Amino acid sequence: MNYFDDSNVNLGVLKERAFNYRWAEVDEGVIPLTAADPDYPCAPQIQNAIIDYVRGGYFSYTPKLGLDEFKEVFSATVRERKGEPVPPELVLPLDSAARAMYVIAKAFLKPGDEMVVFDPCDYLFRESCLAAGATPVSYQAELDMRHRTMDLSRLEDAITPRTRMIGLCNPHNPYGLTYTKEELDFIMRICEKYDLLIMNDEIWSDIIYPDACFKSIYCLGEDRCRRVLSVFGFSKTFGLAGLRIGCAYTTDPDKFELLVKHSDVMSTAGGAASISQVAAIAAMRDSYPWAEEFVRHLTENRNCAVDQLSHISRLHVYRPKATYLLYVDIRDLGMASADFAEYLKKEVNLAVIPGGHQFFGDMSEGYVRICIATSAAILHEGLNRLRVGIERLP
Ligand SMILES: Cc1ncc(COP(=O)(O)O)c(C=O)c1O
Repeated sequence: MNYFDDSNVNLGVLKERAFNYRWAEVDEGVIPLTAADPDYPCAPQIQNAIIDYVRGGYFSYTPKLGLDEFKEVFSATVRERKGEPVPPELVLPLDSAARAMYVIAKAFLKPGDEMVVFDPCDYLFRESCLAAGATPVSYQAELDMRHRTMDLSRLEDAITPRTRMIGLCNPHNPYGLTYTKEELDFIMRICEKYDLLIMNDEIWSDIIYPDACFKSIYCLGEDRCRRVLSVFGFSKTFGLAGLRIGCAYTTDPDKFELLVKHSDVMSTAGGAASISQVAAIAAMRDSYPWAEEFVRHLTENRNCAVDQLSHISRLHVYRPKATYLLYVDIRDLGMASADFAEYLKKEVNLAVIPGGHQFFGDMSEGYVRICIATSAAILHEGLNRLRVGIERLP
């Protein structure tokens, strides 16, 4: 069975359930290529695990530190897939990757501390830092579209005596880039020089295109990675955003203790729902073959979308190495990102995420982000609308 046929996108259900700028929130007729959330139903293995669990009839408390099976399967999965040496007892299931970022920030940052946040980057880095009462300091990570790289050369200039942490989004949202071992080593050497922690978000690490390769920061060796606090989530690879499930993990037992303390799991005020942990276990244990098919589908979508966009004059786009996001340069249109997004919605019934401060940082002004995790047909129609919208501009 092909899970990623056009006919498997169920718009009836999506219009009821897909929020966060997506089908359930846009006006009838609008195609949302917006939040990073797939238009396909999750893997049948996950659906079946949830059904079996529901049939058991009990929804009792879980262990405070999460289900052992979650932690064991997670540890084995990241060891096999990414070479990460994380023992199960240092994995903390939480109710989303976003929560994991907030817990890490709260555990290790205090008012007066600074965290270096790449601009552009997912707003959760900035927001988790702010929620901890600390100060985000932007590093303007300029993009080289031609070589599909970002400029890290001035990163050290963002460090001050108050810097405590650097946020690393690997792969990077919205650039869709992975980092090389040399780049990770460059970042790590700065962190070693100034004794900084790293918030390492790998939520996108399964969505890697065949012409790219993912290197985890853990490839630099276990000793050097004791300053790394990592995040994973199940929203991107497995389409489980509404189950709010992710985890924080580290290789340092002392740091793990601090994570637990600031996660509120011991008081039962925090933690991941049992059914969400069960779904994540089925995702990791049984659903990677499905995810590999998903990446094959996304590769076709990416290639078609980049070709389609490269024929639209005044737009500039490149082939992302990772993520199902396209970062599109609209500066030649002479319009602000938010105005352009609003114009597309009104004029051609297409919703995209505008660059700018709110979602990715000031450096992303003049860009829009397009999510391609949909059917080939919807994507083609969405990008056709984009072309028509641009042709109608003066
Ligand atoms: C880089 C990054 N981190 C974290 C998240 C949040 O994931 P979750 O749904 O697990 O909170 C996202 C979602 O887009 C993301 O792109």
